[in-house]
Amino acid sequence: MSGRELDYIIPALREDWAVPLGPDVTAFEHDLEQYCNVPHAVALSSGTAALHLAILSLGVEPGDEVIVQSFTFCASVNPIVYCGASPVFIDSERDTWNMDPELLEQAITDRLEKTGKLPKCIIPVALYGMPYKIERILEIANRYNIPVVEDAAEGFGSRYNNKILGSFGTAGILSFNGNKMITTSGGGAVLCHSRETAEKIKWLATQARESYPYYEHKEIGFNYRLSNISACIGRAQMTVLEEYISHHRHIHSIYEELLNDVDGISLHCNPSDEFNSNFWLCTILISPDIRIIGEENAYSQKIGCAIGGAGGVTRAADTLTTDCQPNRNVEALRLELEKHGIESRPLWKPMHKQPLYGGAPAYINGISEELFSQGLCLPSGPYVKEEHVRYIVNTIRQAIQTK
Ligand SMILES: Cc1ncc(COP(=O)(O)O)c(C=O)c1O
Repeated sequence: MSGRELDYIIPALREDWAVPLGPDVTAFEHDLEQYCNVPHAVALSSGTAALHLAILSLGVEPGDEVIVQSFTFCASVNPIVYCGASPVFIDSERDTWNMDPELLEQAITDRLEKTGKLPKCIIPVALYGMPYKIERILEIANRYNIPVVEDAAEGFGSRYNNKILGSFGTAGILSFNGNKMITTSGGGAVLCHSRETAEKIKWLATQARESYPYYEHKEIGFNYRLSNISACIGRAQMTVLEEYISHHRHIHSIYEELLNDVDGISLHCNPSDEFNSNFWLCTILISPDIRIIGEENAYSQKIGCAIGGAGGVTRAADTLTTDCQPNRNVEALRLELEKHGIESRPLWKPMHKQPLYGGAPAYINGISEELFSQGLCLPSGPYVKEEHVRYIVNTIRQAIQTK
């Protein structure tokens, strides 16, 4: 929290604006439009809801295919299935770890040949905040006249060629979940350029009502609007957004300096000057050639909860291992860091390797699987201070066994 939230919440409560829609929602949307330099922002109850309505408003329907980056969190993909459509997965390229434009083009032509139809839209994802190669992706998408919906849930404030992510495509989505760059204690937004799309999304998000003196419905709607009180939190958070982004970038620069001479560990960095990540999460790759203390015991015990978020709500695993998982030295480093009070977590498991999506068409070069097998996310949030980074890097150094 920024410390300013109550300055927005208390007046709203005094004015009785504890309802789902209210003036703070409009004001928060206005803040987002200004910051992202887009004509329309629609504030919703989550990033997942934002992606669902963004693609629905573009006409995604049962029988359609939607192209999506495989290396991502499930929330980039599940909304495709909510619409009754099917995902087509695209692997990553090495520079950004995001959607590979070469594979994207191959996939478009191959889907056209195999199904006789073009995919309905393309969803690149700013994983860990890193911008995707948006100019190349747009150039390909425009050639085939396919809309791009940017999943910038993790990349709020990241820029490509100085332009904010989420403002390039037909639509872009943001998340204000508790773990994101700013939070509304749960929320999201669609950014878009067309008034018609924004109006349609607002309409779908408020149960799709026809204007009669009674409830009349012709289409399925959703209860997805952001509450006014959540929008108050968002307004307060917008006042510290730049501060938070600078902090994340600063923490990344300290990791970069301190990890520089640690053999076998490489930090994910902006590949060139066009890319300006918010470094929402700082991530490393651990060479398969280094040995970590306790490696022999990795994966020997069931863990009691899910790694990362969900308030510990998960289903018990039925096996100790799966056929696609991080290398033993990665799991050993995670456990060693945990022993020293440091939370880390593996990179996101590619969607084409998830049991849920194993049967979906996938255009693969092996890169996301390799990244998943070697990667770890390190503490990066607003509470992480320089001395913590020193402690974390020292712990990593001591965990590496010299041969
Ligand atoms: C890449 C990505 N897309 C979409 C989402 C969905 O956002 P939310 O949690 O607000 O529904 C998240 C985060 O959870 C995410 O990491």
